[in-house]
Order: sequence, then structure tokens, then C-alpha cells
Amino acid sequence: PLIRREDYAAPAFWIKTVDLTFDLDPAKTLVINKMTVAPNPALPGAPLRLDGEDINLTRVLVDGEPVSFRTEGGQLVLENLPQQPFNLEIRSTCAPEKNTQLSGLYTSSGGFFTQCEALGFRRITYFLDRPDVMATYKVTLKADQRKYPVLLSNGNLVEEGKLDGGKHFAVWEDPHPKPCYLFALVAADLVRREQRIRTRAGRDHLLQIYVRAGDLDKTEHAMNSLIASIAWDEARFGLSLDLERFMVVAVSDFNMGAMENKGLNIFNTKFVLANPATATDVDFGNVESVVAHEYFHNWTGNRVTCRDWFQLSLKEGLTVFRDQQFSQDMAGSPSARAVKRIEDVRTLRQLQFPEDAGPMAHPVRPDSYLAIDNFYTATVYEKGAEVVRMMHTLVGDEGFAQGMALYFERHDGQAVTCDDFAQAIADANPDSELAKRLDAFKRWYAQAGTPRVKVDGVYDAANQIYTLTLSQSCVATPGQPVKAPVVIPVAMGLVAPDGRQLNLHFEGQLASVGHNTVLVLSEPEQAFTFVHVPVEPVPSLLRGFSAPVVLEAELSDDALFTLLSHDQDPFNRWEAAQKLSLRRLLAAVAGSGHVELDARFVEALRGVLRHPELDAAFKELVLTLPSEAYVAEQLDLVDPQRIHAAREGMRLQFAHALHEDWAWAYEQHHELGGYSPDPVSTGRRALANLALGMLVLDGSVRHNPVWTGKALQRFQDANNMTDRLGALSALVNAHAEQAEQALAHFHQQFRGEALVIDKWFSLQALAPEKDGKVFARAKALMLHPDFTLRTPNRARSLLMALCQSNPAAFHRTDAAGYVFWADRVIEIDGINPQLAARLARAMDHWRRLAEPYRTAAREALSRVAARTELSDDVREIVTRALQD
Ligand code: ARG
Ligand code: ZN
Repeated sequence: PLIRREDYAAPAFWIKTVDLTFDLDPAKTLVINKMTVAPNPALPGAPLRLDGEDINLTRVLVDGEPVSFRTEGGQLVLENLPQQPFNLEIRSTCAPEKNTQLSGLYTSSGGFFTQCEALGFRRITYFLDRPDVMATYKVTLKADQRKYPVLLSNGNLVEEGKLDGGKHFAVWEDPHPKPCYLFALVAADLVRREQRIRTRAGRDHLLQIYVRAGDLDKTEHAMNSLIASIAWDEARFGLSLDLERFMVVAVSDFNMGAMENKGLNIFNTKFVLANPATATDVDFGNVESVVAHEYFHNWTGNRVTCRDWFQLSLKEGLTVFRDQQFSQDMAGSPSARAVKRIEDVRTLRQLQFPEDAGPMAHPVRPDSYLAIDNFYTATVYEKGAEVVRMMHTLVGDEGFAQGMALYFERHDGQAVTCDDFAQAIADANPDSELAKRLDAFKRWYAQAGTPRVKVDGVYDAANQIYTLTLSQSCVATPGQPVKAPVVIPVAMGLVAPDGRQLNLHFEGQLASVGHNTVLVLSEPEQAFTFVHVPVEPVPSLLRGFSAPVVLEAELSDDALFTLLSHDQDPFNRWEAAQKLSLRRLLAAVAGSGHVELDARFVEALRGVLRHPELDAAFKELVLTLPSEAYVAEQLDLVDPQRIHAAREGMRLQFAHALHEDWAWAYEQHHELGGYSPDPVSTGRRALANLALGMLVLDGSVRHNPVWTGKALQRFQDANNMTDRLGALSALVNAHAEQAEQALAHFHQQFRGEALVIDKWFSLQALAPEKDGKVFARAKALMLHPDFTLRTPNRARSLLMALCQSNPAAFHRTDAAGYVFWADRVIEIDGINPQLAARLARAMDHWRRLAEPYRTAAREALSRVAARTELSDDVREIVTRALQD
């Protein structure tokens, strides 16, 4: 059934304490759940309805006496209960080895693991499975000692010992009341890296990272990231670790990235394991930010949690904002910070903007859902983080820290709403633009869709006045035909054509505000007037991407070239290059299909590539063309093959026109020194790999084998995964002959490293399509002995790569891609609905497709939707997609 936000009601009972005993067995695990339950005096006499799913109930005792009960719609219903607090005991069994959904208690590589967010706890025992019910937990684990030497749960270890029959046990107590989605247990054969630390607050803590025996040499980076996160949260927000022991466990079968269970974070191996031989620079960066993200949840999510799942962004948006700030601080230099910001915005535009423009568009705080797992989205996470970032911009760094302090002062230990958070930030800053316009600002939580900001700049030379008129609008989204204006902070400056940053003087104000200011657009249309403007300026708007909007500034090429070479804001320099590329790509897609690159543009990019001061990482971002998805996003009618052809044509021209410059860049940056994942080295490797890709591409078109040879050599010599994979991609992406041999060698070399084999699958599924070969190969890879749909990482490495990230291989005129997609969605839905629903979203944008794609896509969607046996997860995605 559809769940609605407006139907929220407090529960009729509270669960105060939970005492759980697990007798762990893969086929049949016995769970004894002893709770103390207190009736909510506001709702006297109501029945107690406990959630349960896929578990076998064996008995129910109230204050030690068996009672009668009924089950209704999956719930266990108990009536005529005491009006005073009472003890409730429930016994049930479950089958972890049959749990292929990976929600609740499941097995992976022979060990036991749990995932309870959002609704997994009900798959372990009957419970009030909702985040506003918070209890303290005592957990006893019993299991075979040889097979499961490590027994973990939340909190502190209070007792352990031997039992009969080769079994042992451990008892854990978590002193902090928590919602059940933060419960976790692990029973497995693992090894650990551990470190003791003393924090600023002067307390000692034990940090542990548990992995499989072969993976210990991949845990140093995660440990360093954890220590840095702990220090950062103390220094930046005064938030200290509140546990004696903090554990991280890696598991290879996991639906998402990681999970912030109190004191016992469980991670997808992909986001915890990293060493130079097996992980790329991108992996190192991801490990750092995901470790930080989960750690930061200890306060934003665990100490203060969500009242209901509609408030998910309360913890996720805020925690993504925090991990983004942390990664920027770790990057250090202003330019490395800017690089991180550009990457974050690129992700937002690639994932969230399309989501906001499609059938799954939803507000940061959704109004309804069928399956909450479908709402762990780019909108809730990334757009939610942008909303927090805008608050930060409106109240300043200091004001934001005070707002956070007030938030914890008011709500520590509570389950609250997005409104409570915004209110605390505003109340701590009563004179801010946020406080003045809080209601209008909060529309960011309520309205779906990406606002558009139109810009009109008029220069009055005689009076040296420049007037900027900004207007906002937002198109209708499903269920929201009309939108009200939101509050949009527009960070900006004015740049003279010769590149000077102009001083900004507002009309009627005496002093200049400097080179940078923030305009607050809150009306449908507003004009801002600057005086003493000596020349007609180029406006540099939305610096640092100060709001998640589409800016329609219609700047001339001249103006964009000025920003590209001179703007003080690195984000807008990058943005100017993206706009120049996009303009040319869109013209080609609309016209002849072919891009004819103009000398001026080529010169400008050569200037960036050869620039003596710019960082390599920044150069790499500027010289990477907008993705096919981002180009598609700009169009009302999408022909994926046309976009691919135009972009590939442009890439080839760049490869050729800048050949000498790419060779120079490669020679300057490719050195194989010792490996370090710092931003400078990472940037150098990224630029060298981009250059190598371009050189091999150009060489393969012109039948010049020199660079193919160099790439093969580098592939063999590389002392780290970033360079090895970079060289391999250069060969594979250029469809070089040597690619086959290199791929085979790579597989042989890394056949024992699951995360590297995932890369091997992805790389092949992501290659630029050529005569249908990439699609054919991806299909054939389904039959490879290493392939399985049961491990989400492996399934995604092939299927998401093909269906979501390689439009030209997927969208075929013969519809074979869509047929393949529908078959896989149906097949995976029988195994793991959450994973199937993610894959289902590859078809979100079918309505904007040109023919023949559109009709074929609708047929494939309808075929899935017509199935009678379909999970709520997949049903929600396909029915939304097909809804008018
Ligand atoms: N709270 C986790 C995180 O973002 C994500 C868990 C998502 N789980 C799910 N089944 N959707 O850190
Ligand atoms: Zn999170």
C-alpha cells in the first residue's frame, strides 16, 4: 500500500528495552526477543501491531504467560494488553542462507551479517519497525566457534565464553537508545586491524576494522580516514565519539555503500578496502568519504534520528553535506577544494537533475512511497546536501556551527523532522536571510523539480550602472502542477573583458562589498543594481554552484572565453568550458550531426592544458567533455546514437588537434613514482591517463601504433591500479587490437580480487559502442563463470554499466537492449528486489526518446509491469514510469 507522510501518527506503544538472543545457524536461526513495552498514554486501549516479514513465529508471552494473537497483513496483532509497562517475549526462526534480498539477517561468504535500514529488522523479529521507537539493546550471540570465531553487535562487549557442542557466545550492550534500523550483528571468520586513539576530549577509544583474512593489507586507508573523521568532527563541530569501541566490518554482498549501525558500521567491501595495487584513486577518494559519511552519522542520524522515513534527508542530506565538507578540508589547497566541488556538482547533474526531470521526481522530503528503498535517491542525498549547503551559505560558517549546536541542544536523543533542523539553524541566526525567509526557503524540501534561473544583464555605459535581472521558474513534476518561488543564494562577481575582477558597489550603499557577493533571489523576478561599473562586465554567477538550479545566462562565446581564462572562481572557469563544449555538441546534434571545432575553442583548451599554474586535476576536468547523459538532459527529444556520434566525433577532433599537447601532457605527468593518493598525485595521474586515452584514440584512427605500444607497456609496468586501469581503458576504449590480450592478462592477474574483477566487467561494458560489439560482449559476459546476479557489486558492474552508463550500447534500433533489460529486471526481482528496482530505473527517460527507441522502450516497460509476481520495489518504478 502507498504510505503517505500526512498519515504519520505516534505509535500506540513504546518499546523501551530489548534483550535479543540469537542461536545462529544458516538454515534455521532461533531468535528470542524479550522486550519491555510501555503503552502510549495518549492512545489507551489500542492493539499492539508488530511488523514481521519472512519469519516463523513460534511463541508469544506477555509477562511470562502465553497469549492468543492473530496475524493480519503480515503484522502480529495483540489485544487486551496491560495498561502498564509489561514484558513481551517473542520467539521466531528465520533462514539467513535463503535471504538473497540482503535485507535483515543474511549469509555472505559463509558469515552472518545484517542490514536493517530501512525495514530489515522486521525480517529478524516482530517489532515496531519505525525509527521513532527507540530502545536500549542487549544482544547475546551463540554460534559455532570454528566457523564463526568473531561475534559482534552494537555497543560494548560485556561477556564472552564457551558453550557445549563447539559453540561459543558473546554478550553486547549498547547504552544508547536507538531505533531498530541501527541494530547490527556479525558472526564470521574475520581478521582485524585495530588502533587505540585518544581524542581532544581526552577519552580513549578502540577502533577496529574487520575484513576477510586476505584483505588486511587493504585496511590502512580506511583506518586513517576514520581517525581523520573523528578529529574533524571534534574540531569543526565539537562532536566527539561517544563509544569506547567503534567497529567497521567489510562484507562483499551488500545492497548499498555502507551502513551506520551504532558502533558497528557495516560496509560494502568496495568502500572500505583499498591498496595501491587493487584500488584506483577514485576508490581511495570514495573510501575516505564513505568512512567519513558513516562516522558522521553517529551524530547526524544516530544521536538525532528521523521521526519517519519521509524525513530521510534530515540525516542523509546533512551527512552528505558533512562528508563533502570533510573531503574538501582533507584536500587542502583552494584549487583541490574546487576540484572536489566540481566533481560533486558533476555527480549532481548526472544523477539528480535527470531524476528531477523524470517520472521518479520527488521532493527532498517525499510525500508518499510504496517501497521506501526506492527513495534512497540522488534527490534525498545529493540535492538534500545542496539544501543544507544553501543554509550554510545564508548563515555563514560560524552561524552554521551555532545552528548545529542548537540542533543538538534541542534534539539530542530524539527522532525529529526536516522542519526541526531548518528551525534550529534559523533560530541560531535570527538576523539571517534564512530566518527572514524560512517558510519560502523550506519549499526546497517540499517541491520537486530543478528550478531555472534566467539572467538578463543591462549595462548603462553613460551612468556606469549594471543591472542584473534574475527570474526563477520551475516546471511541473508528477503531482505538483504549480510551484512557488524558492530562496536561491546566487554567489557572484563581475569580470571585466580584460580579466580584472571588478569591485562590487550596490546602488545606495557606500562601501564596496569586494569581488564576491551573494544575491538572494526569493521573488519570481528581482533586479540588482551595481554602480561605478567602469566597463560592460561579464557576470560570473552561481559561483561554486551556490544553488542546485539551472542557470540560463545566454552568455556569448566571447564572455565564456573571458570567464574560462580569467574568472577568480575555478568552478565557473570549468563551467565556462563545459558550456562552450555543450553549445558545440548541441549544435551538432541538432544539425549535421558533426562537430566542426573552431580554432578559437581549440586554442582556449590548449591554453588550459599547457597553463603553467593550473593544477593537473583541474585541467583534466576542463578537458573532459560533458557526458552523453548531460547532453541528453538538455534535449526534449533524445536520440542516444546521435549524441554518441557527435560526442565521439568531437573527442576524435580534440585528440587530433591537440596531439602534440596531449603528448606533452603525458610526458610531463606520467612518471611512475611511489604511489600516494594525495590530490596533487591523483590529479597528475588523471591528466596523464586522459592524455594517454586521447593519444591511443588518435593513433588507432590513423593507424599509428606508437601510442598503442606505449599504453601496452604502461599497462604492464604500472605500479598502481589507477595507471594500470588507465592504460587498459585507453586500449579498450580505442578498440585497439592489443586490448584483448591485455584484458585476458588482467583477468588472470587479478582473478582472486573480486573488486578488481568487477572493474574488468565494467570496463568492457562501458567501452564506446562500435557496430554493436560492446552490447554483444556485455551479453556474452553474463555467461562468464565469474558472473553472478547474487552479488550486487558484480551484477551492477556489468548491468548498470551497460544499461545506465553506456547509452549508445544500450539504446539500439533493434530494441535488443530493452529486451535484455526487461529480462534481467524480472530475473533479479526474484532474487533481490532492491537491486532489480535500481536496474529498472535505467528506463526512467524513455518518454523523451526519439523513435524507434520510444515505442520499444514502452513495450519493454509494459512487459515488466504486466507481471503479476512483482515486488513493490519494481512495481513502483515501472508504474511511475508508465503513468501519464
Ligand atoms: N544509511 C545508509 C547510508 O547512506 C544507507 C542505507 C540504505 N539502505 C537501504 N536499504 N536502502 O549511509
Ligand atoms: Zn548516509
